[in-house]
Amino acid sequence: MLVLGIESSCDETGVALYDTDRGLLAHRLHSQVAMHRDYGGVVPELASRDHIRRLLPLVREVLGERSLTLQAIDGIAYTQGPGLAGALLVGAGFARSLAYVLKIPAVGVHHLEGHLLSPLLADPRPEFPFVALLVSGGHTQLMHVAQVGAYETLGDTLDDAAGEAFDKTAQLLRLGYPGGPAVSRLAESGDPARFKLPRPMLNSGDLNFSFSGLKTAVLTLRNRHPEDAARADIAAAFQGVMAEVLTEKSLQAMRQTGSRRLVVAGGVGANRQLRQRLVAETAKLGAQVYFPPLDLCTDNGAMIAFAGAMRLQQAQSGARAFSVKPRWDLQELPRA
Ligand code: KG4
Ligand code: ZN
Repeated sequence: MLVLGIESSCDETGVALYDTDRGLLAHRLHSQVAMHRDYGGVVPELASRDHIRRLLPLVREVLGERSLTLQAIDGIAYTQGPGLAGALLVGAGFARSLAYVLKIPAVGVHHLEGHLLSPLLADPRPEFPFVALLVSGGHTQLMHVAQVGAYETLGDTLDDAAGEAFDKTAQLLRLGYPGGPAVSRLAESGDPARFKLPRPMLNSGDLNFSFSGLKTAVLTLRNRHPEDAARADIAAAFQGVMAEVLTEKSLQAMRQTGSRRLVVAGGVGANRQLRQRLVAETAKLGAQVYFPPLDLCTDNGAMIAFAGAMRLQQAQSGARAFSVKPRWDLQELPRA
């Protein structure tokens, strides 16, 4: 089954072709970072308009790369949410119309399920079940994943997301948008031992996170050391705490579930120090950590094509299967 994947939930237009037999055939991305930079963040209306401009050319490119035509596609997957309403509508409207004229199925994908399953696009790919650390601009979650669609939340953030903490720290250090890669680059030249920052929730006894206190601590530190020379050391201290807390909680989740496999997904998963630390610490436990390929950590169409392919396959086999409900509560019925 050949699936066209479309991601347009925020500031990246991602398009990909995933084949259930041959794997990822092609994927293209257009990032709007340069367009939004002057505003210090994503401007929703500009994002939507740009998705409209980019989608069709990107679809032509991925098909052209494999000398395929639209008629070769068996199904279309698009990001249904969460994300910016206008931006999502562009992808959903495009995908649904194209599926209608091609007379093929379309499926709306949960953006986070896309991230969660993206390490399955890597080689080697993890077996189910596994613990997943999902760290993006809007989410910080530890999940237990038994199979596609069977997700249990083990821990969540009580306030800011990990990516948001990177982005806000970048703002405090006047590094602009987007923050994560910039903080990470600056931290490379800093001394992580010069400043001590609190390690939030490390001993909270649960698997939840909280990063807003850390943000305040960075602000206080910055006010006390406004000189340019201190910026790299602050960035290094901050990155060190993020890597430590995310790693420790992931290990706790593995101990709690008895899982030997950890999967990392979402934009912050591209952070080098976090990766190094997770690799080192899981190895000590005799466990294995899996990452998506680096270019599939942040938003992309490949993860949507893949998650959509899993869903479309399930629906296909489900169409032939049937079941009865000996006990069936009238209140469970969906609204007509
Ligand atoms: O998954 P993603 O592309 O979009 C969302 O669904 O949110 O994640 C974006 C987030 C941003 O907050 C960005 O600053 C962060 O991931 N990020 C990083 C790095 N690359 C992206 N954070 C830390 N280190 C990085 N190298
Ligand atoms: Zn994302």
